[in-house]
Amino acid sequence: MSEPLPPRLSELLEQPRDRRAFLRSSALSFAVPAALAACTRTETHNETAEQTKQGQLPPSARTPNASSSADTGVHAGPHGSSAVPGQRIDVSKIPFRRYDPTLPPLSKERTLRIHWEARDVPIRISPEVVVAAWTFEGDVPGPIVHVRQGDTIEFTLTNRGSIPHSMDFHAAQIDPKVAFRSVIPGESVTYTFKPRYAGAFLYHCGTAPVLMHIGAGMYGAIIVSPPTPLPPAREFVLVQSEFYLEPGNQQPSAFSYDEMLTLVPNYVAFNGRPAQYLAEPIRVKKGDRVRFYVVNAGPTATCDFHVVGEQFDTVYLGAPPGNAIHGVQTFSVPAGGGMVFELMADVAGEFPFVNHGFGHGQKGAIGHLVVVE
Ligand code: CU
Ligand code: CU
Repeated sequence: MSEPLPPRLSELLEQPRDRRAFLRSSALSFAVPAALAACTRTETHNETAEQTKQGQLPPSARTPNASSSADTGVHAGPHGSSAVPGQRIDVSKIPFRRYDPTLPPLSKERTLRIHWEARDVPIRISPEVVVAAWTFEGDVPGPIVHVRQGDTIEFTLTNRGSIPHSMDFHAAQIDPKVAFRSVIPGESVTYTFKPRYAGAFLYHCGTAPVLMHIGAGMYGAIIVSPPTPLPPAREFVLVQSEFYLEPGNQQPSAFSYDEMLTLVPNYVAFNGRPAQYLAEPIRVKKGDRVRFYVVNAGPTATCDFHVVGEQFDTVYLGAPPGNAIHGVQTFSVPAGGGMVFELMADVAGEFPFVNHGFGHGQKGAIGHLVVVE
């Protein structure tokens, strides 16, 4: 049973005007208006009780997003949807494709030149569901990047979508107003960074409202290996994310900003397809060390990572090889975070890996690790 809310807080939640005052006086009043600034320029809002109930701040509480002059609203609807107006797509021609979780090898080059495009692409996330995604390089998640600590990454994003987009690498330390700025369709942004720490990091579009841009598919993983390699292992990348879709059965299904605000997803997935690794498991051999780089794109839920029938030999909470804890059953990866999990596959069998927050596991954050003799 859940504890009842303290009277003052429940009162604030029930009374829009008090709640607004609460939000203005809290840290949220700094963070949230920037993320929602888009709406103020493209839409006409009435301060309705319904909007406030859904978690929207009224226009009077919003400020422009100082980090970008190119940010704008989302495609359609009063609060945003990833639907492309007038676009007709024969979804029967869009195949289902398993997202390969294998960590790609390191390049021999110490400078990586990456030129990606932001594109609107319908993606089949299950046999029944095609989503109208906003993507990096046409997939959700975007490609896995693998670099060494101290490598140089020269990154360019060209926007081939229909609204502004941007790129925020959590592996970078850089002035976000410059590097992570939004670019309008047809234009590009270029910046260079050197990851200072090893680990599993998120990248995502940082254009306002960030909730919508992450929620519609613009995220992925950048894995930074330490200068001294970790013990040899079979290495896999799992990016957890939630899907909040417009009600109804239209295909492709648009992402819904209002549904994102409810925090009740339709699906939760590892690597963009709910339960894809139940249908096609991740396979290793008995005796392998298995390393999972678990990155949580969110936009909101936590990932309580657990492998049924196994225990983690090591979990690196921060930059590996430091910050290691041993003999771990479950560890939470926060939205916007990444951690490295290792186990010794010394027992043969079929081991479900799950978000042990089982409501999320049941919605698709589940797969099988098969250990063969
Ligand atoms: Cu974007
Ligand atoms: Cu971020």
